Amino acid sequence: MPKAVQIKSMFNNISGSYDLLNDMLSLGIHRLWKKKLVRHMTKGHPQRVLDCATGTGDIALSIKKQLPSAEVYGVDFSANMLKVAEDKSKAIHWSVQDVMQMPFEDKDFDHTCISYGIRNVEDYRLALKEMARVTKSKICILEFGQPQNFFLRGIYFGIMNYFIPFIGKLFNKEEAYKYLIDSSKSFPCAYEFTQIIKESTGFDKAYYIPLFGGVTYLYIAENYEN
Ligand SMILES: C[S@@+](CC[C@H](N)C(=O)[O-])C[C@H]1O[C@@H](n2cnc3c(N)ncnc32)[C@H](O)[C@@H]1O
Repeated sequence: MPKAVQIKSMFNNISGSYDLLNDMLSLGIHRLWKKKLVRHMTKGHPQRVLDCATGTGDIALSIKKQLPSAEVYGVDFSANMLKVAEDKSKAIHWSVQDVMQMPFEDKDFDHTCISYGIRNVEDYRLALKEMARVTKSKICILEFGQPQNFFLRGIYFGIMNYFIPFIGKLFNKEEAYKYLIDSSKSFPCAYEFTQIIKESTGFDKAYYIPLFGGVTYLYIAENYEN
């Protein structure tokens, strides 16, 4: 089965418990990381903003809260995840879309982001290229990585190998959380992923901010052309 079909069906299956499990697995810490992303996304008061792989819509909703006059769009290819988002608010333009091919005009949005989504996209270079196509000036990406510090790596792999599988089993979602662990342990991060972002987007500047010693990274890419 193609990876995209598997991923879509996995998110369609976990949509009902996604928010709760996120809070449990990260002990609520993912909210702090997302806040940081939203701060960068709302800087400069963009008027058209796109949240890719929006899932249950956390990021799109926080951006709208910060910028009530902005037009905020949230897209995801899992209809069930989007249904949870839609039930939270009608103030966002939600739509079922594949991030690798979106129906938007070139430079349609001031700022675009993707939170814990890029790792899941079948061809992430293509998704980055597509995000750059529809974006005028800034792309923000939040994604798991691997801590660089020896001590933190120990804790991180302990959590990945024992705590998360335990919670996954408790909720009968072992398969989904095994995928989360495997994909997070191997996804390129820090300097390596920043280079991939630069190459794929063609934006002038890209840099990263490690969060929690590198459990997660916030990547920012900016285009000065506009
Ligand atoms: C881990 S969730 C992240 C949801 C949300 N952004 C968050 O931070 O909580 C990953 C999301 O990526 C979506 N996704 C994966 N590949 C996609 C693609 N090619 N196009 C659109 N959405 C995709 C999944 O459906 C899922 O909702």
